[in-house]
Amino acid sequence: MAKTVGDMTSKPDLGRRRFLTAATSVVGVAVIGAAVVPMVESLEPTAAETASASTTVNLAPIEPGMQLTVPWQKKPVIIVNRTPELLATLAEVATQGRLKDPDCAVPQQPPYCKNVYRSRKPQWLVMVRICTHLCCIPHYRPEKASVTPWWLGGFHCPCHGSMYDVSGRVLKGSPAPHNMAIPEYDFDKDGTSITITDMYPKAHVC
Ligand code: FES
Repeated sequence: MAKTVGDMTSKPDLGRRRFLTAATSVVGVAVIGAAVVPMVESLEPTAAETASASTTVNLAPIEPGMQLTVPWQKKPVIIVNRTPELLATLAEVATQGRLKDPDCAVPQQPPYCKNVYRSRKPQWLVMVRICTHLCCIPHYRPEKASVTPWWLGGFHCPCHGSMYDVSGRVLKGSPAPHNMAIPEYDFDKDGTSITITDMYPKAHVC
């Protein structure tokens, strides 16, 4: 049964449950107005909080540059509204030679997301927010130089320092082996919401 979560007006009651090694506290679903704050979280849903097999998310509250994280099949899925400035960093980080798998050769995404944006539409990133090293929840760090002096924006895992660009492509020097996983999803007819349906079966979450 599908569940719509994008129009939430209150913070879901996220319970407690450990991700494998994340000794972190958590967050999960964001949100009123999709406030975008970096989060170190371990999303720990109880059975009651577990999202249904498919989840529909309203994109309207997610302002440019912001993110919304929703629980889906016991996993946090992050949806980022990427600005043109953030999108421009994707070519730059590849040019700098910082990516382990710049062309997404490892099938960590459905075929329709095997592109530099790792998405159906460049503006929107829809991704399982779990570090492929040991399952921690990476921070969303869109600000330049917020992690390292050369940082262009992306995700930083607090556990062992893995770094990803704003498409979830892992940077060299990170202990994480792969880009973060992209689930199966699609937009509705008018592009105002998405429905997350399945894990891409070849993807390795962590
Ligand atoms: S779990 Fe993310 S770097 Fe180890």
